[in-house]
Amino acid sequence: MLTFRRALLGAAAFICMIFLVTRTHSSSTSNLIPPSDSLKNSQYDTQSTRTGHVPTNPASTDISRLAGTKEKKPKNGQQLLQDMSRASLRDKLAYQFPYDVEKKFPAYIWQTWKYTPASGEFGENFRPAEASWSEKHPGFIHEVITDQVAVHLLRHLYTSVPEVLDAYNSLPLPVLKADFFRYLILLARGGIYSDIDTHALKSAAEWLPENVPREAVGLVIGIEADPDREDWAQWYSRRIQFCQWTIQAKAGHPVLREIVANITEETLRKKNAGLLKGFKDNKVIEFTGPAVWTDTIFDFMNDERYFDMSTTKGNITWRDFTGMKAAKRIGDVVVLPITSFSPGVQQMGAEDYDHPMAFVKHEFEGTWKPENLRHIGAIDDGKR
Ligand SMILES: *[C@@H]1O[C@H](CO)[C@@H](O)[C@H](O)[C@H]1NC(C)=O
Ligand SMILES: *[C@@H]1O[C@H](CO)[C@@H](O)[C@H](O)[C@H]1NC(C)=O
Repeated sequence: MLTFRRALLGAAAFICMIFLVTRTHSSSTSNLIPPSDSLKNSQYDTQSTRTGHVPTNPASTDISRLAGTKEKKPKNGQQLLQDMSRASLRDKLAYQFPYDVEKKFPAYIWQTWKYTPASGEFGENFRPAEASWSEKHPGFIHEVITDQVAVHLLRHLYTSVPEVLDAYNSLPLPVLKADFFRYLILLARGGIYSDIDTHALKSAAEWLPENVPREAVGLVIGIEADPDREDWAQWYSRRIQFCQWTIQAKAGHPVLREIVANITEETLRKKNAGLLKGFKDNKVIEFTGPAVWTDTIFDFMNDERYFDMSTTKGNITWRDFTGMKAAKRIGDVVVLPITSFSPGVQQMGAEDYDHPMAFVKHEFEGTWKPENLRHIGAIDDGKR
């Protein structure tokens, strides 16, 4: 029965959604993407150069065999316009969310949580973390999207790709939806996604080294784990694991397109095979978490559709990122060292929170112990 309370909640969610959608629309041409000059300044961190401060973030090393390569233009752009209904999922996503590396990083911060910051139930321990993002990013649009609002927002963004919505709605665990949501919102809108329990230590304007041109980068990622030990496979799913609690991207980035397509197809396949009902927590990492995220990134870096492979001597692998102390650029992807997004873990070469390269602080809730590491992708589960 539709109680008064429910009706009220529904109305509130609806108004929120209208608000978000209209604001998203109007502001995409006005205040959402700040005037090019101000954003350019903040991105280039002219403040510290003007005042003569030494940049905290040392120069990046490019992986030279790939640096400077360009994404090849899709050959079939013409056909896409003519008949999208029969296009593949990946082509539909590419058409709907075109990627332009030369655009500026959108000034959005996206987070998800069960409650909005306005709610008494938001959680006092998350408030300082949530506030840190607004404080460090004046002028950015900062949204904490609840699960109810996410449904409406995604329905608006993905109307023309219904299989994506079908997959999202079919996911059986909140942690799976939370994982999927971050890729979906970044693919459609771009900006920064960060988990609700993650503090911003430095403004994103300082994340990229000064010598990296912003108009040549479309994805910024950090390292979650770099276990330099014989028995790493006992504790981790990949020798290098990229983290997905904080990601910065421009809309339409091919890595996001691919992971959205992958999760959509895997979900619908599992659904048709009746495998979603009994889905186990410990499979999250491979299905939507850091394992599939890491694989998708490596596949992209080794994909000849995006990189000129003729000059390369072999695939990019974990060896290119292990033990790194400064950012590395591979085409339009910047990989930050482990200290940047995982400071303070006291292993794998990560420095502490006060290190100049420490950019965000992720709360591990005591999970950073070997016996818990295997399930690192499921950490969020307990919290939601
Ligand atoms: C999704 O990605 C995983 C890599 O982690 C791969 O094994 C799997 O085949 C992909 N599935 C689809 C449908 O692309
Ligand atoms: C390089 O990576 C691609 C994509 O991940 C893979 O298909 C291929 O087999 C790899 N080649 C080698 C030599 O490892």
